[in-house]
Amino acid sequence: MSLRLQITALFGAILVVTMAIAAYLGESIAARAVEEGIRERTKEVARSISSEIDFSLREPRESDRARIAVRLAAAVARHHGLRIAEIAIRRPGKDDVVRITFGKNGPETTFEQRDYMFSAQPQARLLDSGEGRVAQVDQPVSDPFGRPIANLRIEAYVADAELIADRERTVFLWVTASSSLALALAFTLILRRMLARPLSRLAAAMAAVESGAGVPPAIPGAERPDEIGTLARGLDAMLVRVRGFSRELQEKVDDATADLAHKNRALVELNDLLVEARRDLTAKEQLAALGQLSGTIAHELGNPLNTISGHVQLLARAPSCPPDMKEQLEVVQREVKRMTAIIRRFLDSARALTPAPEPVEIAALIDEALSLTVSAEARTRIAVNRDVPSEMGRAALDPSLVRHVLTNFISNAVDAMAQGGRLTVRARRAGDQMALTVEDSGPGIGGEERKHVFEPFYSTKPKGKGTGLGLAICREIAAALKGRIELESVPGHGAAFTLYFPAPAWKAAG
Ligand SMILES: Nc1ncnc2c1ncn2[C@@H]1O[C@H](COP(=O)(O)OP(=O)(O)OP(=O)(O)O)[C@@H](O)[C@H]1O
Ligand SMILES: [Mg+2]
Repeated sequence: MSLRLQITALFGAILVVTMAIAAYLGESIAARAVEEGIRERTKEVARSISSEIDFSLREPRESDRARIAVRLAAAVARHHGLRIAEIAIRRPGKDDVVRITFGKNGPETTFEQRDYMFSAQPQARLLDSGEGRVAQVDQPVSDPFGRPIANLRIEAYVADAELIADRERTVFLWVTASSSLALALAFTLILRRMLARPLSRLAAAMAAVESGAGVPPAIPGAERPDEIGTLARGLDAMLVRVRGFSRELQEKVDDATADLAHKNRALVELNDLLVEARRDLTAKEQLAALGQLSGTIAHELGNPLNTISGHVQLLARAPSCPPDMKEQLEVVQREVKRMTAIIRRFLDSARALTPAPEPVEIAALIDEALSLTVSAEARTRIAVNRDVPSEMGRAALDPSLVRHVLTNFISNAVDAMAQGGRLTVRARRAGDQMALTVEDSGPGIGGEERKHVFEPFYSTKPKGKGTGLGLAICREIAAALKGRIELESVPGHGAAFTLYFPAPAWKAAG
């Protein structure tokens, strides 16, 4: 049940009880007032009648009684609503009583002699006569010395007066009921205006906040000076605080989200680095294993070569050895020595790639690498182009290491252009930095393949044709030269490998 309904019901109940009490009290007061009025009026009538009759009668005589009866009849004729009018006159012995009764057939006069109860004071009472309620009044009559000599009694019907009182009561009840209704109606309207409407507006604002439909810009009723105003202002203040809290919370969530996103990015980058490092490590491990293997092989080859060398020397020194064989043995001896030197050099270089810079003519170095790598057959299908600025001149670098890188780049390019194409070897310098590029118009290298081309043993060439070590070794050499290799490629349009490394221009002394 809504608050408004509850208050209305309570008010209605209070009103009904109040009105009922008021009606009851009003009615009983009115009834008493009516009775009082009747009594007073009857007394008045009795007084008026007694003043009209002469009671100075000494002796009881028939004529006196008749005279009194006539006078009484004349006096009561002017008054309506009487039931009985009687006069008792005190006599020695029995008292005289003259009575006029107003019946259906008109007034009837009777005389009797009996003992009569005379009262000293006027008295009025209400009685039930058997023909309806009546007001009975005794009006004593005294002689000049104050002794009671007669009594006038009248009885008047009060039914008319009670009818009027009943009517008044009905009117009173109707007025009470309708004024109660009007009051209740007015109260409901006032309540609606004062309490119900502002409270429902407040409830609607709260419901809007609760449902998340949005906070109204101002809480209705906040301007009121009463308790509703206090409530609305309280709610408003609370909402301001809630808004503040939620803004703070949102900011914190945003900050945390941004921080998380940042950390996530960092994590992704770290992961990439980790993958890269792992790949690098694997490559290095493979290279190291290869180096070790090659070293073992070279070392193992050294012993039989020493034995061969010893035996060849012994054969050459033998007196039975013919001179032309001696010459051939010397050739063998020389070649064995060369092989031993190669192995030593390999073993040395396997230990560490240490560049030995010397002045080198860049154009000549490129030509040499091209002539070593591009066969005559290849030149029939591939247009070879060397792009070296004329002012390039000489630079300080390790020719064998740089040549090794160039030849690898060039042979890869030639292999990539089996159907022909264009090969360009370019040299550029920026300060002390040299850039040597080998560019081809082959199929190029796709995204996924790019990740692997520098890994040892990665090769797309048929078995026996490629080891997959070329670019891996090139990268090691580039590191030894304190440089780097960069690959540019548009799949379908060729690839370009560039070796960047420090190679200061060589200025001949003087
Ligand atoms: N210019 C290029 N165009 C297209 N693919 C290339 C090019 N250069 C290298 N590649 C790819 O890179 C792979 C690795 O090259 P790398 O030189 O390391 O080994 P390889 O050439 O296969 O073997 P090897 O060098 O021992 O002959 C090649 O198998 C080839 O797939
Ligand atoms: Mg290769």
